[in-house]
Amino acid sequence: MLNIIILSIIIYLLIIFHLMFWNRELRWDWKKINMSNMKFPPSFYWGTATASHQVEGNCNNNNWYNWESSKDENGSPRIKDNQVAGIACDHWNRHKEDVLLIKDLGISHYRLSLEWSKIEPQKNEYNQSAIEHYIEVVECLVNENITPVITLHHFTNPIWFEEIGGFEKEENIEHFLFFCKKVFPLFSDKVKMWCTINEPEVYSVMGYFAGIFPPGKKSPQLAVEVQKNLLVAHTKVYQELKSLPDGPSCQIGLVKNIMQFDPYRRWHLLDWLVCHVTNKVYNGIALTYLKKGKININYPFFAKLKYSSSNAALATDFFGLNYYSHNHLKFKFDSYEFFENKYPKNDIITDMPYTIYAEGFYRAIKQASKIGKPIIITENGIADAVDDRRFLYIQRYIYAMNKAIKEGVDVQGYFYWSLMDNFEWAEGYDMKFGLYEVNFKTQERTLRNGSKAFIDIVNGSK
Ligand code: BGC
Repeated sequence: MLNIIILSIIIYLLIIFHLMFWNRELRWDWKKINMSNMKFPPSFYWGTATASHQVEGNCNNNNWYNWESSKDENGSPRIKDNQVAGIACDHWNRHKEDVLLIKDLGISHYRLSLEWSKIEPQKNEYNQSAIEHYIEVVECLVNENITPVITLHHFTNPIWFEEIGGFEKEENIEHFLFFCKKVFPLFSDKVKMWCTINEPEVYSVMGYFAGIFPPGKKSPQLAVEVQKNLLVAHTKVYQELKSLPDGPSCQIGLVKNIMQFDPYRRWHLLDWLVCHVTNKVYNGIALTYLKKGKININYPFFAKLKYSSSNAALATDFFGLNYYSHNHLKFKFDSYEFFENKYPKNDIITDMPYTIYAEGFYRAIKQASKIGKPIIITENGIADAVDDRRFLYIQRYIYAMNKAIKEGVDVQGYFYWSLMDNFEWAEGYDMKFGLYEVNFKTQERTLRNGSKAFIDIVNGSK
């Protein structure tokens, strides 16, 4: 008996020493790093991004509209302090001025999303004036020499689609596909870069595991199934759009958020284990799907899913990488949320709250590069209301990206999130991600001081 106990302790220690010393958490000595004079390839481009529901205003016909005024099972509001998106930044009416603000930054690209619920308010009924609005926005951008990038799905569904089960049902993908095929030819002469779906893992984890996004369900099994359906939707949209007349001349890709998970206690095997599971569900599903067309999740009592498709592998022209956060996970005894997020004491925390860890961005770029497709940083940014960390954040994250580029990774462009403060989903208007601060009473936009780090880098790279 004693022998077995001693042997178990030795095996545990060997595994832990191996994990601790051969899998160190990457940390750079920032005091020794020179972040000036970063060089970028001549074709590298800079942009900024928004999403319809977060900025446009009057998105009154989607699942978020209903969600924002509903209550959870305890009668508490879904959105912090009962906030609703409402008229948001009134970008719908102020897009002309906003395009000039984009121009003032010295950047060349703008990523926006089409609000499906405005364009197809009822199943198979299309709203011509909404379509014309987006055509006008695109023309306005092109006239100002800003390259438009369109996202087809950024978290919101029309109410009619949500009511028939949204992406919970694989057969519903057809409705989204139909919408995409309808709108693509209306823009594809001018819009040459398309994002199919924004962050399948965030949509599914937040809406079906954490229950913080609509429809507020809490089922790990459903969460992985929804994630799979969104990935399948991406493949179908990609293939259909590629077969349309402008398809071959357009770049069409999936946008995926990569989060870093590290054990809070590096000596604790259970912390390593929760990192393994969360990493596999959050990052692994989409990465193996894009690389091999396969998903294999098998965690008894949690979630199981096996999927394979011969045409899904590499069905994307680029990998749209969104990067925000680094999580230190600590195992906890709970049959549902079996971990908690902890913050190492020396890390700088942003408002969201995520830590500033640019090394994680570098790691994410390296992970994304394994797919073998060009990478576009479709989102990266900081929530910083007092604007005392934005400058440092921008410098460090762009340094990390630059390092990956110098080491040979094909990163083609970078979009800062976000152009201006906006409706940050469950957090309402409290999270200030904007390069421009928005006064929501007057709709006045003011460039933040910290944003100058971005402008300097953009200008310096020309
Ligand atoms: C989403 C954005 C969001 C941002 C900041 C991303 O996951 O695509 O819509 O505002 O994160 O939280």
